[in-house]
Amino acid sequence: MKLVFATNNTHKLGEIKEMLDGRHEIVSLKDIGCHEDIPEEQDTLEGNALQKARYIHEKFGYDCFADDTGLEIEALDNAPGVYSARYAGTGHDSEANMNKLLSEMNHKENRKARFRTVIALILDGKEYTFDGIVNGSITTEKRGDSGFGYDPIFMPDTYTQTFAEMGNDTKNQISHRAKAVMKLTLFLSDYNC
Ligand code: IMP
Repeated sequence: MKLVFATNNTHKLGEIKEMLDGRHEIVSLKDIGCHEDIPEEQDTLEGNALQKARYIHEKFGYDCFADDTGLEIEALDNAPGVYSARYAGTGHDSEANMNKLLSEMNHKENRKARFRTVIALILDGKEYTFDGIVNGSITTEKRGDSGFGYDPIFMPDTYTQTFAEMGNDTKNQISHRAKAVMKLTLFLSDYNC
């Protein structure tokens, strides 16, 4: 089954291809000749994931899925959440986002956080959503070089390393996206039966 993953993020594409382990052919926006910015104007992760998947389905006609992820921090009333990419401005600058977050969290005792991913799938004209959550905490400084986004400051519960320290192999087994992709994969396997 060929599915378009509505992303231009090469890290995410690589992660998902690794997780699906060749069971489905996943192609990117670049692969289908889509070079435009897909609108993400909703105020929920579900809304944004659906908006992106619908855009590709309506414009290009492919079966496809899109994801949206937010980092939700308890002490900040679940901010930055759906605005995680633009937390420090429209530049989508991970270093600036982490610096802003570390400064907002300065002296906060409650450092509980969670990553939440929602995947929206459009298959044979029907819409489905799958979510995945990983609970953890925000460290007081950046640690590690692998991964992307907020990985250097997010430490999943029961681990002593941040996502950026543990490397992609371990992260891909326990992450929010891994959990959502697992649900997507199980659904696709059943769907093929
Ligand atoms: P998106 O919806 O996947 O584009 O993600 C929104 C924001 O969350 C971006 O700033 C990403 O860098 C960040 N983000 C998404 N997934 C991860 C992750 O697995 N680790 C760290 N940051 C992430």
